[in-house]
Amino acid sequence: MTIFDNLIRWGLPVVPKVIVGRFARPYVAGPTLEHAVTAIQNIMKEGAMATLDILGEEVSERSKAESSTREYLSLFDAIEQRNLDSNVSVKPTMLGMKIDEAFCAENIDAIAAKAKEKNNFLRIDMEDHTTTSATLRIYRTMRERHGPHVGVVLQSYMRRTIDDINSLLDLKPNIRICKGIYREPRTVAWKGFETIQQNFVYATRKILSSGGYVGIATHDSHLVWSGMALADELGLNPEQYEFQMLYGVDPGLRRIILDSGHRLRVYVPFGQDWYPYSMRRLRENPTIAKNVLNAMLGGGRT
Ligand code: FDA
Repeated sequence: MTIFDNLIRWGLPVVPKVIVGRFARPYVAGPTLEHAVTAIQNIMKEGAMATLDILGEEVSERSKAESSTREYLSLFDAIEQRNLDSNVSVKPTMLGMKIDEAFCAENIDAIAAKAKEKNNFLRIDMEDHTTTSATLRIYRTMRERHGPHVGVVLQSYMRRTIDDINSLLDLKPNIRICKGIYREPRTVAWKGFETIQQNFVYATRKILSSGGYVGIATHDSHLVWSGMALADELGLNPEQYEFQMLYGVDPGLRRIILDSGHRLRVYVPFGQDWYPYSMRRLRENPTIAKNVLNAMLGGGRT
């Protein structure tokens, strides 16, 4: 990545929202649940599964966190009624983590109870490092209360991730491993590309070989290969792990994973609050610098 790419990436917040919206469209199913249902039906036709995410984060009003909780509860009914092969992902800061941990835990508890009632599954996403310890405390409590119907996420860029895995192994945890997307200081996060890759593989191996379940969440073909190699080396059957990818990213790789006989889940975000999520996706898109600049200058494709 060039210095120029980095300048564009971190300068994205000053790009007009209308331009960001144009490039962000492929990453979000749409503003309503109906858009997400259509996206999931197409994903199912490909032979993949989904996880539904309502866009929103960093909520500072209790009433907003409570209405998001209600919206999440109704998702499980919609999944059942529409016969969707989907579970659900939540962001703790949408459910009040920045207001009060206990309040957030109550909201997540209600959603996890609904997941269990519907024999479905709730994944607690991982956000920036200020929320990691609290998110893992909530995960442990939910796991004790709702068993295998709840899982969490760990990020391979975090220096603490191996210790976190060690502290969760007694649960035979269900963990999505991803690289991590938040801008973290060097004191808490590894910065080297290869170190983050190696930590991803180390973490995946550690959980799988201890009887846990891993959602191998990546579009990095080296990590996809290493996930496949690990599954083979450990003699796993395809129900003991899954690959995961984000909506709108690399459908070709999606096909390759499915055609190789592995299970794949696509993360499908929908809702009105698309901006922060889309900004993170745009920063990761290798061709975004050129395209955004073209659009700002009035040229190029839309
Ligand atoms: P990397 O960023 O190196 O990308 C590999 C290749 O994928 C790129 O070279 C490019 O070809 C392609 N690619 C990646 N992003 C693209 C984009 N936006 N547009 C076009 N092409 C792109 N993070 C987090 O902190 N907490 C979380 O809870 C989650 N949850 C989560 C769920 C799922 C299902 C996935 C797949 C990812 C997450 N993430 C996440 C995000 C994750 O941490 C990470 O930022 C992204 O997956 C990108 O990392 P890769 O492993 O794909 O590698």
